[in-house]
Parts: sequence; structure tokens; C-alpha cells
Amino acid sequence: MARSKTRCIGLLTAGGDCPGLNAVIRAIAKVAIHEHGIRVVGIQDGFRGLVENRTIPLDDEAVSGILTRGGTILGASRDKPHSMSVKGELRDMTDAAVETVRDHKIDCLVCLGGGGTAKNAYRLAQKGGIEVMTLPKTIDNDVFGTDVTFGFVTAVGIATDAIVRLHTTATSHHRMIICEIMGHRAGWLALQSGLAGGADVILLPEIPYDLQRIAEYMFARRKQGKRFSIIAAAEGAKTLAEAVEAQKAKKAEKNGKKPDKKAAGKGARPEEAATEAEAVDAIRADLPLKVRKLHEEVMAYHAVQEPMATRLARHLQELTGVEARVTSLGHVQRGGIPSSFDRALCTQLGAKAADLLAQGKYGVMVAYRNGVCVPVRLEDVVGRRKPVPLDHPMLECARKVGTCLGD
Ligand code: F6P
Repeated sequence: MARSKTRCIGLLTAGGDCPGLNAVIRAIAKVAIHEHGIRVVGIQDGFRGLVENRTIPLDDEAVSGILTRGGTILGASRDKPHSMSVKGELRDMTDAAVETVRDHKIDCLVCLGGGGTAKNAYRLAQKGGIEVMTLPKTIDNDVFGTDVTFGFVTAVGIATDAIVRLHTTATSHHRMIICEIMGHRAGWLALQSGLAGGADVILLPEIPYDLQRIAEYMFARRKQGKRFSIIAAAEGAKTLAEAVEAQKAKKAEKNGKKPDKKAAGKGARPEEAATEAEAVDAIRADLPLKVRKLHEEVMAYHAVQEPMATRLARHLQELTGVEARVTSLGHVQRGGIPSSFDRALCTQLGAKAADLLAQGKYGVMVAYRNGVCVPVRLEDVVGRRKPVPLDHPMLECARKVGTCLGD
């Protein structure tokens, strides 16, 4: 065994959890410990645990038996070191993060996460003068520089299975069922599962949809004697008008304008409230200030999303007269046992990461390209996204088999 250039690594999982995280943790730790004699420190709850110096040793025993386990044994969070909520205030915690790295004599911080995590890790390396490496995790498959992210294929399987099962009720009751699929601002998950599950309509963030076109498509289906439709809708799919509005809002926020939110606590007494929203406002107004502040902190960073599928179902039902139902798959897509493809992918990515660490290769993301794991420089991938290209063969194929893409 050649002498390893790395003696100790820190391992953290940041962003949303995802099938395969434990498989990667296991592979990195096993190869690092047994092949290269590297000590592995597990950091809990992503960058928050790094800032708060919450760690566990990752020895052979700690990573045994976790290959098939979903989620992450380390815990995850969406916190960023350079802008972290501490006692109700956003603070730059870079120094605290770096202190933990120094405290444990960590030569390289290995961050398992998506595009946001890569950005945060890179920033930390630049500002804090530490070494980092990332591995591309997300069910969204939107990380630039890798052919596939780990967790994606498992999520495709879950969403496909749901679409197949929804056909039963849709055909029996002659309904349209809108199945909302995750993916953030990318349509990979909806596209691949929609294609594999035989969805009649697939809506993606990359292709603004036209309600009239979808309604016409459904009328045409009815004429052919098909009295049901399955719509696989990516959570980020929008009409053209919504897409323009979203762009404007993003621009305004970038320029410092906050979204216009109703002042908290205003409104009727709970018993007088006409709507649920008013009742919530009134109850909140009665809470002690300290508790209300805590709630506001959570609300500021974790807005509860309304499923877009509900709105779409209402509009399409109005336009077509076909009874509509909604299934929002949500976090089911991130849960449970990673698929065999993902477990094999994760093991290869993790093993490659450990080998690269032993060679002292830092500042890279370990990507999967053309069937092999390769390092790509972080500066070449950070800040870039991978949406579905409009000339992707899967889109062409969907159109050829008569799937409506909403345009
Ligand atoms: O990035 C993964 C993802 O599951 C997205 O598809 C989704 O938009 C988001 O995370 C949901 O995040 P959270 O778990 O914080 O609700």
C-alpha cells in the first residue's frame, strides 16, 4: 500500500436526504480505513454540525450493515456555513466551521450533497482556507458535470411505480390523475418516470405548459375512447405567464426586495376567523413573543409549499369537465432502500473518493461519466446547473409515442 497523503477526513451529508447516502459513507470509510489507513470523522447534521463541532468516529463497526439503509446515519440539514441562522439571526459561521476542521486535524472535508452543497463547500474552502471534496447526491439529477447523481435512479423507480399504480383508479373511474413529482427546478425525475410509467402528459420546468393545449389533448383522447389521463407533473412546472412572474420575483429578490408577506399576527380572533389562514394568524398572535419568534425563524427558511398539482387539477377539471384527483408523491421519493443501481454507483463513487483522498487530490467532485468515476474540478461545476436540454432524446421519444408535453 502506497503511503496515503491524507491522514484524516471529515464526512458530512448536506441538503435533503437521499437514497444511497449511507452506501457512500460506508464505501468511503471502508476503503479509507482499510486500504489507506485514513481516520474518518463523521460530522452530524451537515454544516450545522460542523459549526457546532458535533462529530462521531466512523470506524468499521459504525459503517457496517448500512449499505441498504435509506437516509443518512449522520443526519442532514440545509444550513450554510456563511449564512446560518443562530439565535434568530443570520450569521457567517465560517470561522467556527474551520475551527472544527482544525480541531480534529481534518485534512479534507468530504461533503455529500447536491449543487447547493458543492457551492457551500467551495465557498468554505475559498474563505476558510481548507481542503474539500464533494460527491453528487440528489434525486433531482441536476448536478452539472456528472452523467447521473446518486439517488436519482431509486427515485425514478418509486415515481414510476406510483404512476403505474395510478392507472388502476384512473381507468376504473374515468378520471384524470395528476401525479406531482419532485425535482426542484429540473424535470429529469418527472420525465424519466413519466416515460417509464406511461404518463399521457408530462410537464417539466424546462417547458412552460399551456392549459388549453393539455385540455385539447385530453378531448382528443376522449374521442379515441380513452376516458382517463395520467399527468406526471414536475413540482417546478409552470405556465409561460407563471415562468415570467417567477423570473421577475427572482430578479426583485436579488435586488434586495423582500416578497410581500402579510404581517404575522394580524386578523380576527380564532373563533371569528372565516378561513383557516385567518385562524392560524389569530392563534399565532396569542402566542408568547419568544415562541412566535422561534416559529418565524422556521417559517423564514422553510416555507411550506402548496402542491402545484392541486392548482393544475382545479384548472384542468374546469376546462375539461373530467373529474380530477391529485397525488403528490413528496418525500416518498427520497425514502427507503436505495436501488441496486444506486448501491453499486455509491460504492464505486465512495471507493474512488477514498483513493483520490489517499493521493491528496482535493478540490474536486467525484463524478460518474461514461461508466467510470472521475474527479472534476469544483471550480468547473460550482454554480452551474443541469436542466433537461430541450433537444434531449427522451423528449423527442416522448413526443413520438404521443405523449403531450404541455406545449
Ligand atoms: O433536492 C431534493 C429535493 O427533494 C427536491 O426535489 C425538492 O424540491 C426538495 O428537495 C424538497 O426539500 P425538503 O426536503 O427540504 O422539503
